Amino acid sequence: MRSAVMSGRVVAGLLGVMLVGLGASASALAAVGDGMAVARSNACMGCHAVDRKLVGPSFKDIAAKYKGDAGAQAKLEKKVRDGGAGVWGAIPMPSHPAMSAGDVRDVVAWVLAGAPASK
Ligand code: HEC
Repeated sequence: MRSAVMSGRVVAGLLGVMLVGLGASASALAAVGDGMAVARSNACMGCHAVDRKLVGPSFKDIAAKYKGDAGAQAKLEKKVRDGGAGVWGAIPMPSHPAMSAGDVRDVVAWVLAGAPASK
């Protein structure tokens, strides 16, 4: 009796681990899709377009510049949060201190993925 309860717990525990694993990969996919929504709702598109230069560089140009750069995600998260100039020209990007860390991560992941229209 007792051992049946125990093995039930083990099975439940294993299922839990599997579900957490599935959840993680699903949210990684969702992050890229959500990035576009984050960009739209934080006025990024007022200065950036996906495939042409506006005030700032196009998101496709940014993705191309940092292709293969393992540190790009962290570097650009900081740049979006703190703002700055000098990488693409003299015009500065304003800081975005009110954005959540998750939103910044999602939008940068989306930009680095080449700003796909849908996922
Ligand atoms: C007021 C205009 C403006 C807004 C709003 C803006 N950007 Fe920018 N962005 C710029 C400019 C200008 C640059 C180029 C900065 C430079 O040359 O270092 C830039 C650069 C970038 C870069 C590349 C940074 C680098 O160092 O290579 C990323 C990524 C980026 N922006 C993402 C975003 C995201 C995401 C948002 C919305 C949360 C956003 N931008 C909002 C103007 C803007």
